[in-house]
Amino acid sequence: MEERTMSDRITLRRFDDMHCHFRIGPIMIDVVPFTARYAGRATVMPNTRPRAILTGKDVIWYRDHLLRLLNGMKLAGMSVLEPLMTIEIRDNTTPKMIVEAKRAGAIAGKVYPLGVTTNSDEGLRDFSGKKILETFRAMQDVGMLLLLHGEIDQERTLVTKREEAFLPTLLWLAERFLDLKIVLEHVSTRSGVQTVERLGKNVAATITVHHLCLTLNDIIGYGVQPHNACNPMPKDFEDRDVLIQAATSGNAKFFLGSDTAPHLREKKECAKGACGVFTAPVLPAVLAEVFERAGKLDRLEDFTSRFGAEFYGLPLNEGTITLVKKEWIVPEQIGGVVPFRAGTKLRWQLLREE
Ligand code: NCD
Ligand code: ZN
Repeated sequence: MEERTMSDRITLRRFDDMHCHFRIGPIMIDVVPFTARYAGRATVMPNTRPRAILTGKDVIWYRDHLLRLLNGMKLAGMSVLEPLMTIEIRDNTTPKMIVEAKRAGAIAGKVYPLGVTTNSDEGLRDFSGKKILETFRAMQDVGMLLLLHGEIDQERTLVTKREEAFLPTLLWLAERFLDLKIVLEHVSTRSGVQTVERLGKNVAATITVHHLCLTLNDIIGYGVQPHNACNPMPKDFEDRDVLIQAATSGNAKFFLGSDTAPHLREKKECAKGACGVFTAPVLPAVLAEVFERAGKLDRLEDFTSRFGAEFYGLPLNEGTITLVKKEWIVPEQIGGVVPFRAGTKLRWQLLREE
């Protein structure tokens, strides 16, 4: 039998993936099982269409869809995950809606500032009005997390500067709501990381695997590569260095939120392509590569499986996954979606369950 040294194999506690787009409809069947292979829990984003998740009723409806799929997977002997449900916070979200959503099982509210990303056409316009502040206060009172898509689209602001433009809003909110747990989702800049480091323990950030790999060059530097396009846009080399440093630093404020965001191939390869990268099929393998390259494989489990749970106030997942050093080529397409790193060779491979 083949001998494997310890460095050929890593066993990790099952992950918490604190930012996943599972969508609604047939595409769910193709995408959810990939996250379930490695995650014990996943924060499920509410920007679904045609029906967005805005109320307690929507939460119950969406969770039922997911549980039907997950129960089928369980019967087929596949691993399953626990969905952590969220609602989208809009200008018309009221404290009453917060209480009802919490009762229905929503763990968090997600803010998409107007117009900054996929399905944010009814996103939040006003962060400081009396009504929305009452809504944020209700979230704090019931113990719901506030997840922020931290970008703002304003005049004369390039897409690459939208995160920095948002940071004053993050500071403003964090100072006003000291007991509200706030997550700056998919942080993508050095300034974003530094702001989160500086703020109190009620503020954390998720980091995606693609932001640990890409710079803007990988989107527009060598021909347009629509399958790498996402919001926030990957930035400069220095930003990426700082993200790698934050993810591998052992600082509990930074944890995994993959933002795995599948779009059908034809929605990406067209005149106005959708933003979002489908990373779930390669996520553990690419993360292992990044942490190994940084010489920090020993910090991977804290990033994937501890810090997120601790920030959310959840017990650690039971169960483990194992990665082995074995090359494989990422498929060109999975169920109509082109995955991250399609057609390329990866070093690590998630061991299939027996
Ligand atoms: C996400 C999507 O496709 O829903 N897209 C993206 O580029 N990340 C939405 C989001 O998280 O911004
Ligand atoms: Zn997202």
